[in-house]
Amino acid sequence: MNLVKPDAVERVAILGAGTIGASWAAYFLAHGLAVNIWDPAPGYEARCRAFIAAAWPALSRLGAPEAPDESRMAFFDDMAEAVRSSQFVQENGPEDKQLKIELYSRLDDAMADGVVMASSSSGLLISELQAGRKAAARYVIGHPFNPPHLIPLVEVVGGEQTDAAAIDWALAFYNGCGKKAIRINREVPGHLANRLQAAMWREAMHLVDTDVASVEDIDIAVSYGPGLRWALMGPNLIFHLAGGDGGIRHSVEHFGPALESWWADLGSAPTISSRTAEKLIAGVEDEAAGRSLEDLTGERDQLLISLLEMLARERGKS
Ligand SMILES: NC(=O)c1ccc[n+]([C@@H]2O[C@H](COP(=O)([O-])OP(=O)(O)OC[C@H]3O[C@@H](n4cnc5c(N)ncnc54)[C@H](O)[C@@H]3O)[C@@H](O)[C@H]2O)c1
Repeated sequence: MNLVKPDAVERVAILGAGTIGASWAAYFLAHGLAVNIWDPAPGYEARCRAFIAAAWPALSRLGAPEAPDESRMAFFDDMAEAVRSSQFVQENGPEDKQLKIELYSRLDDAMADGVVMASSSSGLLISELQAGRKAAARYVIGHPFNPPHLIPLVEVVGGEQTDAAAIDWALAFYNGCGKKAIRINREVPGHLANRLQAAMWREAMHLVDTDVASVEDIDIAVSYGPGLRWALMGPNLIFHLAGGDGGIRHSVEHFGPALESWWADLGSAPTISSRTAEKLIAGVEDEAAGRSLEDLTGERDQLLISLLEMLARERGKS
């Protein structure tokens, strides 16, 4: 497979410029790439430009130039035209399998040979989206976390027809432009990080449902406790440190039996009852204490940017 070199990419196509697509566009621009943006919704250009302008101060704080380079931003009415001159495609259309299948049937002809296409899809299997496509070997999932212009993680996974070289390529490309990309060895619903989040949220709901603690105290337990450590090291490495001199081996032996008994007691309901949902919603409204979604998003992003700056600075020291 003769792919464009990941570090030779100069222009990327952004297909679908909603929450995720506009954020990707801002990120790639901040990293010096030119972006060809297409979205079928009327008025998308103004919304996307407004998003990029609003995101820019944060990107600038994290190292981007003071203002986005307008000459590197192009908006298209025709998807194929946006794709034709691009050396990478990031697809961010709605999370709808049929819609993505239809989009890919048109995308196939527009993509130049050697170009990789990554879908941001949160939960669809690339095997189901790539079936029947002539460029199937170059289709991968490149799943970001919201907002992609701030959260470094990208999960890369291929489907049944994806060539291993396209997966390696996507990992190299994302990492080369400052993301933290990981390889998922085989397709599973929800990819990887969302499954980890789901496991924790399932238990959080169970704890709300069974009145073990308030919604707010459950959030405090995470963000003032283990959540602080998780931003620095993952749960496996953290348990390596919990084992004293014996490290992870000791942790597994020492905590294993207790963990197994807690696992046996965890809530396992695969459905969310309306009673649980209402309890959770009321608890979150209490916790928000009048702060609007906009207030909370601003608060989250300010803290996140400070944390990213600190981590980059401290990690850069070693
Ligand atoms: N929102 C998140 O937290 C999140 C996180 C990671 C990944 N994703 C994934 O990113 C993708 C986009 O999600 P979003 O939250 O940005 O949705 P969104 O609804 O904000 O944006 C979707 C955009 O796609 C456009 N669109 C409509 N029809 C289209 C078509 N046929 N082809 C291309 N674009 C089309 C819409 O006009 C809209 O601007 C989904 O696959 C989703 O699973 C979302």
